[in-house]
Amino acid sequence: MIQEKVKILWNNKISPYYYRIGFKCHSQYSDATPGQFIMLRFADQINPLLRRPFSIHRLISKDGAIEALEVLYKVVGKCTKKLSMCTEGDIIDIIGPLGNGFITSDNYDNVFIVAGGVGVAPMLFLASYLQKNTDLLKCTVFLGSRSKHDLLCKDDFLRLGMKVLITTEDGSAGRKGLVTDILETSIKENHPDIIYGCGPTAMLKSLTLISETHLIPCRVSIETIMACGIGVCLGCAVESKKTPEKYLHACLNGPVFDTKAINI
Ligand SMILES: Cc1cc2nc3c(=O)[nH]c(=O)nc-3n(C[C@H](O)[C@H](O)[C@H](O)COP(=O)(O)OP(=O)(O)OC[C@H]3O[C@@H](n4cnc5c(N)ncnc54)[C@H](O)[C@@H]3O)c2cc1C
Ligand code: FES
Repeated sequence: MIQEKVKILWNNKISPYYYRIGFKCHSQYSDATPGQFIMLRFADQINPLLRRPFSIHRLISKDGAIEALEVLYKVVGKCTKKLSMCTEGDIIDIIGPLGNGFITSDNYDNVFIVAGGVGVAPMLFLASYLQKNTDLLKCTVFLGSRSKHDLLCKDDFLRLGMKVLITTEDGSAGRKGLVTDILETSIKENHPDIIYGCGPTAMLKSLTLISETHLIPCRVSIETIMACGIGVCLGCAVESKKTPEKYLHACLNGPVFDTKAINI
């Protein structure tokens, strides 16, 4: 983990509320795993006071060395609004890589990735990591969003050679409904070795139930409110399903958890 002030290299609007921001980062990020995150604040500014957590979306390397880190973010409030107004050359202050990422394995031949809305942010890093570092044979990506305007990264997954199934709540792209609606049918046709998920809490609860019913391991990245990201404030407690711990902390023990380990 390292704290550094870094220069913004790009900050591109990709859809009405979504941006991709890239900045220089330390070579330590070459060991980062998908699901890990950074805590970000504006350099030398006190407003907003608290850092905000963002998943690593992509690591860009040249000649084997990490050149830049990219975050995909949705504008929802004070920090993300201010971030959307940053331009190339502005300086931000980041701490990372933080937390525990997704556990991957060469034993998984067939993987399902399920992403709801901006929950897709860590999943592109996961998809490219699986493709580069494991013996994966087949990966199906389920993208769910409110409308076509919140549908992100479809072409990136397609470029990785993955099958992409789309649902939108208003039916403006793909099938109308929830991303979990098509999951059960796909499981019956093509039983995966593991399901990886990130998205709204309701989606993660649904993934937990589906994976229990079909006896499939499932790991999800959760989005709790985080004030410090490094285990100091204890504000990111998550109820544990296992004893002796009553609570786990999303920033230290997560944000990626086995769905058998926590109550979502
Ligand atoms: C591990 C982790 C990874 C994340 N990765 C991403 C990502 O890659 N892209 C992305 O767009 N968002 C991500 N988030 C959510 C992101 O941190 C919040 O959207 C951001 O902090 C909002 O800041 P704000 O000042 O713009 O909004 P605020 O004005 O603080 O709040 C606006 C809304 O955002 C919610 N929110 C505020 N702070 C947090 C927080 N720390 N965690 C979750 N929700 C919050 C509030 O409940 C409120 O509804 C992640 C959260 C976590 C915990
Ligand atoms: S965010 Fe402070 S302890 Fe986890």
